[in-house]
This record gives sequence, structure tokens and C-alpha cells, in this order.
Amino acid sequence: MSIRFRLLLSFTSVVVVSVILFVLTAYLLSVAATGDFRSISSFYNIHYSLHPLSEEEENLFIDMKYWAKHEPERLKDQLLLADYDYQLKMVQAGLVVRQNNKIIYAAPTLNGMDLTAGLPSYDMGNNSIRNTMNVGNRFFSYAKFDFYFSPETGEKGSIFVIRERSPFAEMVRTLLPILIVIFVAILLLTGFLLYRYVTRTIIHPLNKLRQSAEHIKDGDLTFQLQATSRDEVGQLVLTFDQMRQQLYDSIQLQLHYEENRKQLLSNISHDLRTPITTIKGYAEGIRDGVAQTQEKLDKYVGAIHTKATDMERLVDELLYYSKLDLNKEPFSFGQVELGPFLHRIADELAIEFDNHAVTVKWEEEHEQPLFVLADREKLKRVIINLLDNSLKYMNQSPKQLTIAIERNDEQATIKIADNGPGIHHDSLPHVFERFYREEPSRGQAAGGNGLGLAIARQIIEGHGGTIWAESEPGQGTSVFFTLKIFVDRR
Ligand SMILES: Nc1ncnc2c1ncn2[C@@H]1O[C@H](COP(=O)(O)OP(=O)(O)OP(=O)(O)O)[C@@H](O)[C@H]1O
Ligand SMILES: [Mg+2]
Repeated sequence: MSIRFRLLLSFTSVVVVSVILFVLTAYLLSVAATGDFRSISSFYNIHYSLHPLSEEEENLFIDMKYWAKHEPERLKDQLLLADYDYQLKMVQAGLVVRQNNKIIYAAPTLNGMDLTAGLPSYDMGNNSIRNTMNVGNRFFSYAKFDFYFSPETGEKGSIFVIRERSPFAEMVRTLLPILIVIFVAILLLTGFLLYRYVTRTIIHPLNKLRQSAEHIKDGDLTFQLQATSRDEVGQLVLTFDQMRQQLYDSIQLQLHYEENRKQLLSNISHDLRTPITTIKGYAEGIRDGVAQTQEKLDKYVGAIHTKATDMERLVDELLYYSKLDLNKEPFSFGQVELGPFLHRIADELAIEFDNHAVTVKWEEEHEQPLFVLADREKLKRVIINLLDNSLKYMNQSPKQLTIAIERNDEQATIKIADNGPGIHHDSLPHVFERFYREEPSRGQAAGGNGLGLAIARQIIEGHGGTIWAESEPGQGTSVFFTLKIFVDRR
């Protein structure tokens, strides 16, 4: 059963139950008030028939009843009647006296009314003393007593103490059916509006969600869902859209990885194939006796050895990179004093610097020893990779290297800068990608595997730091990386 149908059902049942309860309550009220199981339409008649007069009016009525029983003739006395009428008027009632079919006294408030038509006929047994009547369009309750003015002549008379009843009561009586219709109409309208409201705020968004889920099932993730409200449904729509966005992003990332993987495979194949071809060529040369002299033979064997070493280095680096990538290379962090650590590495490379005619400039603060938390061996690898790049790519004199250490709030920034050829703006964002080499250097004697900076990035990110490069073609390259400063909390 759909929610829409259930809602329709529940609204209908609310309307039906309300109507039944309303009618039942009205009926029970009328029964409770009248003590009679008659229809509700006679509710007011019955009520006023039972209680037509107030206590004072009742007393005056009993008074006059006494006269009617014992001295009926006195009820022809206009003065006496006017006096009673006056007293009745004080309690908002009026007096009417009838002789046969003639009205001999009528309260002034009833002047101009055709009472004879409205008054009930004689009931000499006085079985029905109290009742209601309509005269014209006015509604009265009354107490009546029929008697004989003279039993001999059979001259009949009646006294009426009448009281006009609220037109409101009468109005309610006539308006009751209309009121019920209006009540039901309002109930229906409210139900309908409520149903539409719920449909619009719950069912429609739910339908949209279902359609979106179907889109996702079919692999379409490019649409966007907009929440139309801030309630729970709106939040659900919003969360659903966030989920879609994340799914979309992760699929894009997956595709990107897939693309990378293909690229990687093609790069590896290429980079392995080139030295293999060379090795094969030289080996064939030796086999075919091309290297006839010892000198040539040495050259061939030397070339084979160099290429094999290159390949070994590539495979080693690749293995190392993939270990880092798979988080299989554990980091063993320790406290490292940055300044002396960098100086030691530079000292180890002093001969290299000399060979390349490179001068090294240091920029560091000496106030306090600066400790960082690092894996010594890996950090050394990063620095050697960066220095190696500078040495490899610097191509004009004077060759200058700058090593700088800067202390910030919580981290240290290390800069290794050279005045080499720089990196082209288009290449700069890619140099940290594995196998990325700027075009001219690819396959060049100076060119490596394009893994040095990728490994450096893996290691620095493994330390929770960041690494980036700034470069101006022709001016030089600066590579920066950050490390967390070690704070002794003991
Ligand atoms: N100091 C630099 N000056 C100019 N270009 C640089 C410098 N450092 C890096 N590059 C450019 O960035 C590329 C990527 O550097 P990376 O160290 O990753 O690879 P590589 O040096 O070519 O090979 P590997 O380090 O694996 O031997 C280099 O090929 C080079 O084009
Ligand atoms: Mg390198």
C-alpha cells in the first residue's frame, strides 16, 4: 500500500470518524438535556416545553391558576390582568387570556400579532400545560391553563404565561443542518489541504529521491538534487545529494587512478625496454665478434654494466616507491636536530659539490637548536634526491645552491634552491608525479627515472608535512618542505 494511499485513507477515516463523533455528541447532548430519545431537531422545543418559565413566572402562573380554578370571573378583570402582566413583564414574560376564541387580554409586547392562530387549542384536561409555539416567525415557550369561566354555559378560557425565546436558539435550530454541512465541508477541505501539503513536502521529495536512486543505479551521477525544505525530508535529500557527490568524486578518482596505472605501466615498460635494447645490442655485438679489440670489448661490457646498473636503480626505486605507496614501508620516527643533520649530509656530498663547482650558501637561525620528528634514513633520502636534482640540472656557472631552514610556529620549513634552468610553468604542477620528467630531460643523459620527487613527496607526506616547488625558468628552482617541530612535553 503506497504512502499516498495510506494518507488518503487516514484523512478519510479522520473525516468520517469526526462526523460520526459530532453527530453522536449532538444527539447524546440532546438526549442528556431532554431525557428523551427524540430527534435533535426537537431539542429546543423539548427543552423549553419542560422549562418554559422561570421560578417567579411559575409562581405568578400558579397564582392565576388558583383564580382560574376558584374565581374564574376575576380573570376578566383587566386591571388585575394588567397587574399580573406588569409583574410578568418584570421577569421578561407576558400574559395572554383567552375567552372561547377571543383574546381578552394580551401583553402589550404582543400587540399586532395574530395570536389566535398561534395559540394551541383547548385541552380541558390540561394534559399539556407546558410547551413551545411559533407565532409568525417568533418563537415562544409557554405555560397554559384551560378552565371554564362558567361551567353552566361551557364558556371556556385559557391563561398563558408566555415568554419569547432567544432567536439565537431558533436560529441554531434552523441553521443546524447548514452548520453540519459547513462543518463537514471544512473538515473535508482541511483534510484535502493537509493531504496536499503532506504530498508536496514528503511524497514528492521521496519520489525524487527514488528517481535519483534509479539514476545512480543506471550509473548517472551528474545530476543534482535540491532540498526544498529544511525538515527531516530536506535533510535526507541533502545527505543523499552529498552521498551522490562523494560517489561521483570517488568514481572520478578511481578513473584517475586507473588512468595513472595505465600510464605507469606504459612508463615502466618504456623505461625498462630502452636499457634492455641497449644491453641486447651490445651483447649481440660481443657474440657476433664485433668487439674485436680488448678496448672495444671493455667498452661494450662497460656499457652493459652501466645499463644494468641503471635498470637495477630503476627497479629499486620503483619498489621503494610502491612500498611507500602501499604503506608497507614503516616509518621509524625519532628526534632529529635539523641544522646538524643537514650539515652532515652536505659534508657527505662535499666532493660532489666540488666536482660540479657548486658553492653552497646556508640560511639558518642559530639561536636555539631546532628539533623535528623524522625518520632519519627517509629524510636523508629526500634531501639527497633534491640536492641530486639541483646538481643534475644546473648547467651554467656560477652554480649556487642555497639550503635554508626557517622556523614557524609549529613547523620547520626547509628550502633547497638552485640557480639552474628552472622548471617550466606547465610542468611545475606535475614534477611530484611519479615518472614525470620535463620533456627535454626525458631520455637525456642527465635524466633519471622521474621518481625522485615522487618518492620525496611520499616521504614528506608520511611525516605529516607538505612539499612544493617554486621556479622561474632561467632563474632557478626552489623546493620547500615542512616538518613538525618536536616539542618535548615531558
Ligand atoms: N632542480 C631542478 N631544476 C630543474 N628541473 C628540475 C629540478 N628538479 C626537478 N626538475 C624537473 O622535474 C623532473 C622530476 O624530477 P624527479 O627528481 O622526480 O625526476 P628525475 O630527477 O628526472 O629522476 P630521478 O630523480 O628518479 O632520478 C625532472 O625530470 C626535471 O625535469
Ligand atoms: Mg631526481
